[in-house]
Amino acid sequence: MTTGWPVRLSHDEITLRPLSTSDAGAWRQVRRNNADWLRPWDATVPPGVEPHVTSFRSLVRQLERAARRGEAMPFAVEVDGRFAGQVTVSNIVRGSAQFASMGYWLDRQVAGRSVMPRAVAMVADHCFFVAELHRIEIAIRPENTNSLRVVEKLGLREVGFAPRYLHIDGAWRDHRIYAVTVEECPGGLLRRLLDR
Ligand SMILES: CC(C)(COP(=O)(O)OP(=O)(O)OC[C@H]1O[C@@H](n2cnc3c(N)ncnc32)[C@H](O)[C@@H]1OP(=O)(O)O)[C@@H](O)C(=O)NCCC(=O)NCCS
Repeated sequence: MTTGWPVRLSHDEITLRPLSTSDAGAWRQVRRNNADWLRPWDATVPPGVEPHVTSFRSLVRQLERAARRGEAMPFAVEVDGRFAGQVTVSNIVRGSAQFASMGYWLDRQVAGRSVMPRAVAMVADHCFFVAELHRIEIAIRPENTNSLRVVEKLGLREVGFAPRYLHIDGAWRDHRIYAVTVEECPGGLLRRLLDR
């Protein structure tokens, strides 16, 4: 079995590669420009919990440690060579589970071009066909119509509803849960998306 990490994935104008501390400048700039766009969907620290990520550098270091343990794949998204967001595979569980969760965000400047549906498909295909995972799950707030379009375009199955599932934008928020297994996309998610 291979962990499938580190890796670089490319399709047309999109490149996915490991997030790095050298992304700090671009990451801060894009986050600053997109503060209002991202805030309603951003993870926050619940009251009483010690924040363990205090800077971009500590975020990257924590993700790199998780990646070395085979528990995460933290991708930077580049569009036409420019840093434009993140796709993070986390909670990778092996053994009889072989599943993982996926989260993502994108610079509003490049939104609306199906960048994220294609990026999610590329990462899911890598998880299935190289890292040999079996199931990918994505949790989305019911209010997040843009993200719901991403899973709709990808044809992911809605598998459940999780009340007060994650601490987002300052409170525990309900989420709709979507999933895909490798058997559901034998030719890959990217192929299926492009053939639609
Ligand atoms: C969700 C997100 C990643 C989608 O990425 P994307 O590459 O723009 O995805 P798509 O191009 O498929 O667009 C999805 C929908 O967003 C809407 N949309 C696209 N561009 C938009 C813009 N500039 N402003 C407002 N809405 C927009 C459209 O309704 C679009 O659906 P359509 O293609 O049927 O018209 C992106 O909107 C984002 O980063 N949002 C903020 C963070 C977030 O929600 N993360 C996910 C948490 S679960």
